[in-house]
Amino acid sequence: MCGIVGYVGAKEAAPFLIRGLQQLEYRGYDSAGIATLKPSEPIKIAKVAGRVSQLSQIVERQTVSGTIGIGHTRWATHGPATTENAHPHIGGSGLVTIVHNGVIENYESLKAGLLAKDYQFRSQTDTEVVAHLIADRLRDLTSSGSGEITVQHCIDAVQSTIAQLRGTYGLLVMFRDFTDLLIAARCGSPLVIGVSKSEQFIASDTSPLVGHTDRIIYLADHQVAVIRPESIQVLHRDQGRIRPNIQALSSETQDSGLDGFAHFMLKEIYEQPQSIRNALRGRLDKDNATAHFGGLNLTTQQLRSIQRIILTGCGTSWHSALVGEYLLEELARIPIEVEYASELRYRNPPTDHNTLVFGITQSGETADTLAALREMKRKGHHALAICNVIGSSIAQEADGGIYLHAGPEIGVASTKAFTSQLTVLTMLALYFGRLRHLSFEAGLRIIERLEELPELVERALECHSQVKQIAQQFADASTFLYLGRHYNFPTALEGALKLKEISYIHAEGYPAAEMKHGPIALVDQHTPSVVIVPQGPVYDKVLSNLQEVKARGGPVIAIVDHFDPQVDRLADKVIQIPECDDFLQPVVASVPLQLLAYEIALLRGCDVDKPRNLAKSVTVE
Ligand code: AGP
Repeated sequence: MCGIVGYVGAKEAAPFLIRGLQQLEYRGYDSAGIATLKPSEPIKIAKVAGRVSQLSQIVERQTVSGTIGIGHTRWATHGPATTENAHPHIGGSGLVTIVHNGVIENYESLKAGLLAKDYQFRSQTDTEVVAHLIADRLRDLTSSGSGEITVQHCIDAVQSTIAQLRGTYGLLVMFRDFTDLLIAARCGSPLVIGVSKSEQFIASDTSPLVGHTDRIIYLADHQVAVIRPESIQVLHRDQGRIRPNIQALSSETQDSGLDGFAHFMLKEIYEQPQSIRNALRGRLDKDNATAHFGGLNLTTQQLRSIQRIILTGCGTSWHSALVGEYLLEELARIPIEVEYASELRYRNPPTDHNTLVFGITQSGETADTLAALREMKRKGHHALAICNVIGSSIAQEADGGIYLHAGPEIGVASTKAFTSQLTVLTMLALYFGRLRHLSFEAGLRIIERLEELPELVERALECHSQVKQIAQQFADASTFLYLGRHYNFPTALEGALKLKEISYIHAEGYPAAEMKHGPIALVDQHTPSVVIVPQGPVYDKVLSNLQEVKARGGPVIAIVDHFDPQVDRLADKVIQIPECDDFLQPVVASVPLQLLAYEIALLRGCDVDKPRNLAKSVTVE
């Protein structure tokens, strides 16, 4: 949540800052701002309660110039989205200027101390407290000498300030007296430095760095970086100065833009055949009828002795975990527990040493998932990640894992990452199954089905124009129900989440049989139910549930995989997806549900890629 950018070098900083914020806007888009500095001139700040495009217009009108600068795009935590609360924030009447991601939990007590010293606050943010604290420390450090501020004073002021902070932060600090110095500090909120010869770039993820450098440093927790045009010094809280680990910037982080699509979400829905191919690539082994993963970092013997797996994540990634539960129990016969990461981090489940933990996450930055994995690691469990973003915090902290290779997912509503997660989980179930009881023939059959999956998804996309028409009929509804059973219970949950997050229509997903235990009271002629009813072991059961809805006058949109005259007669609309084995149905059936949410959101005039109140990666608790 929230995006940070920074530049120090010889060029004008503002163009990089604005472009970088545009690329980071998916992380938060309540408000935005930049600050730049020129020798012997006061700091220049432009801020707006709105989008980066509005900020860019302001920056064009006012001259916000200088060869050093910092910028921020915000997802509000402390105080509403106003210009005053937008970052950057100034400390000590302009001595320091900062941008901050994360949450300072003890900001109120720190603020009380500053108020007692007559510091004035312009905003309601926790960030302004940090800005004043650094300035205050800087004043203390220089008050006894000539009054001249040195680089070492700046470093000391930042270090002693962060020692007082409780919570999470990614901080970038600019000092009035230095046009060639930025200081970055990290604890729980990512920062990456793009390394170059005579200029340095900073961002909260790699996307703004692409095209500027191919060498990066991921700052780790409790590290402070002293960034100057021609040097970067990294200091660790406990170890002092350390050698920075310079890595290559992965080409996977490069995003090719909208490619002619109206929105990133639509582009990402259409990318699914390819993203699934990428997830499968090099991992299927027909000779042994199994799958291979390079990074689990456990021996076959250790993997064979696993007696329980915990799958954890948030939102869509939690829905993937639910599908994973069905897959791993069915194909590998391993007891599975699925947990919201936000609950797991505070639970104390009894576990034994043969319990393996998988954190599932697109961004690799979700605070709750990271905390849950850390907690499981503390208890001695091997904690692995199923993650999309290379080099993300979770990818770095996990004991190993599997990358999705889905490419950048920019739309806030997760689509291709979800289907890639399901693809990886199917391969994982195959792998664990083959380590145990699953026969060669059964393994081979799963591989053959997986190989067909990209084409099935391609064919599922053909329903788009029909879904568009259906959307017109139902776009005014105020509540939707999504019903499915077995593998398609999580599919229903995911369909409902897609609709509510981008169209703001209330939607609930249920296991279809649960309807009669309460939710069926919601059914009337204004409440459409999307019923996922493909062939499989529970087909007849779901059909009965569909009839129960119809009997109460509820409109039904049925997702089927073959022509059934009975469904055709009962349902108001029928969307046919390609037939496939039940364990792959959540992938294929998700396509029309994603498109339905997209088309309804468009008709309601919603901002599909940047829905209100949301952000792409949720780096606060
Ligand atoms: C999905 O559409 C959501 N935007 C959200 O639920 C998301 O899946 C969740 O925040 C978890 O994110 P992660 O996969 O990056 O950890």
